[in-house]
Amino acid sequence: MPRIFALLLPLIVVVACDGPEAAERATFFFPDGDPEAGRTAFAQMQCYACHGVIGDDFPEPHATPPLPAPLGPDLAARSRGQVAEAVIAPYHRIPDDLEAVHRGEVPQMGDYSEAMTVRQLIDIVSYLETLGRR
Ligand code: HEC
Repeated sequence: MPRIFALLLPLIVVVACDGPEAAERATFFFPDGDPEAGRTAFAQMQCYACHGVIGDDFPEPHATPPLPAPLGPDLAARSRGQVAEAVIAPYHRIPDDLEAVHRGEVPQMGDYSEAMTVRQLIDIVSYLETLGRR
């Protein structure tokens, strides 16, 4: 085995074992947004029609059957990239316990990629981050 490869092998193993989420944290910079503007965009797009929001005073969602998990302080535990992913790629990664979502028994989240500006996405992610702190 060439010597240089032997030297690099431990590094390659470490990078491979770190997984995509660690790589995302290391490489994906998600800027600060304006939470108030994000709240306005969230209201304009009527995200609350499906999502209950813990820590804010939107009208109750009217989707039936209701979604299993309201948006709330739990989101603050995720990276901004993961929250943005949930908005731009719904269903890419659904928690295993949300059986009703897996079975398609709740209203499906639509594609917002044409409806939302990048600015609005950044602001909405900032707004969602403030839930539990408002
Ligand atoms: C027609 C119903 C519907 C609308 C409207 C909707 N969503 Fe969703 N959304 C879903 C469903 C279904 C899921 C997957 C189930 C879940 O995670 O609760 C989801 C998941 C999410 C998640 C991940 C939640 C989690 O805990 O993993 C976020 C964040 C989110 N939506 C944000 C938004 C935003 C922002 C808007 C408005 C731009 C929006 N949604 C509009 C149905 C909707």
